[in-house]
Amino acid sequence: MASSSEPLPGTSDLWEPEVGDWVALEAAARRVFGAYGYGELRTPIFERTDVFVRSIGDETEVVQKEMYTFEDRGGRSLTLRPEGTAGVIRAVANSGLNQGDEKRVFYMGPMFRGERPAAGRRRQFHQIGVEAVGPRDPVIDAECIAMFVQFLDEIGVTGSRVMLNTRGLGEDRAQVNAALRAFFAPRAAEMCEDCQRRLDTNVLRMLDCKNEACQAIVVDAPKMIDLVCDESRAFFASVCSSLDQLGVDYELAPRLVRGLDYYIHTVFEVTHSGLGAQDALAGGGRYLIVPPGANKPVDGVGFATGMERLLMARQSLGLAQTARPEADVYVVSLGETSVAPGLALAQEIRRSDLGLRVRAETSGRSMKAQMRTANRLGARLVLIQGESELAAGEVVCKNMASSEQVSVPRAGALAWLRTNA
Ligand code: HAM
Repeated sequence: MASSSEPLPGTSDLWEPEVGDWVALEAAARRVFGAYGYGELRTPIFERTDVFVRSIGDETEVVQKEMYTFEDRGGRSLTLRPEGTAGVIRAVANSGLNQGDEKRVFYMGPMFRGERPAAGRRRQFHQIGVEAVGPRDPVIDAECIAMFVQFLDEIGVTGSRVMLNTRGLGEDRAQVNAALRAFFAPRAAEMCEDCQRRLDTNVLRMLDCKNEACQAIVVDAPKMIDLVCDESRAFFASVCSSLDQLGVDYELAPRLVRGLDYYIHTVFEVTHSGLGAQDALAGGGRYLIVPPGANKPVDGVGFATGMERLLMARQSLGLAQTARPEADVYVVSLGETSVAPGLALAQEIRRSDLGLRVRAETSGRSMKAQMRTANRLGARLVLIQGESELAAGEVVCKNMASSEQVSVPRAGALAWLRTNA
């Protein structure tokens, strides 16, 4: 295969000024999730394959078609994380979770799925996610959703919709599956090949098939809430009433089941019209996962949001960040002997509390060439030191916007920057 400098399909290089948008999103997440008592957790980007297969489920699209799995030199099967929850549960179990404890963590970083690349669908994408591990309490589910809504508010993403449903308990599965099978069996011939297989292997998956012909059938399928037991219904009612109390708007989505097998009870998705076909801004819910090496499952609730999609939603609302210049200040040095003092001046500005981006001439080129560089970098302020300024202990300070230029004592350069920045 010919090599190319292009990144692989579904991956990208991220440059300024977009990086600034990413950093701002991450900062907002840290602020909002921190306010709810969540602490940051960084788990490895690859794990033993079974960490994902066992929790996500081997009948899911993610496990069957999308994982980047490879063998290491010792012949162990490893996988690049396709999502964050499985690794978080492994890490929490490894750190020890006592009965009744609640561990609240958030995470952010790259995830990998070998999907067909499209707008909003990447092979390396980035999630910000949270997990509240421990108690099975519907109020935590509601608070988790409210927290995401607050996060969207803080980053200016308006117009999203929270879609909510229940999957009931594991104990409901037999009854749910039987009812769904009874509904789908006579219609299976009109459905896609995957669904025909799912009828036997994982009938719940038929509810979230993206195929158009299948979707036309799914709209008449039984509602999950009508198939689950009283306990599940009561749990869901509590989530809804907590959301009402917290003032969160949501819509019931009676056939939403989500594409990962670990969910029980609450499932939700947040959609945004600015995203196009891949309209899920975030997805999450309550789950029950048996951590590797354990025999007892762990309860938790959480969600993950795609950073690329958050930025697409922001862009659709005209909120993309404006380009940041590569430098705010350029230090011009005229003549070879002034290069070192110019660099020293730049250092002084960088070490100050001004927070300015500073570039300085390194080779003593002509004034014209240096001013061209200052312009190209977008510098608003230019400090000029030639041999005569050095001898007089002065600096010429130029405001590029107003073209005003003054000579100040070297010791006053920072003060001039402070008033002009
Ligand atoms: P998920 O629905 O698979 O859930 O992914 C969550 C979000 O990640 C999606 O709503 C979307 O914004 C983003 N996303 C997923 N795949 C891609 C892709 N190929 N390209 C771009 N963005 C993508 C989970 O991953 C669960 N772990 C969420 C969770 C946490 N449930 C409980 N806790």
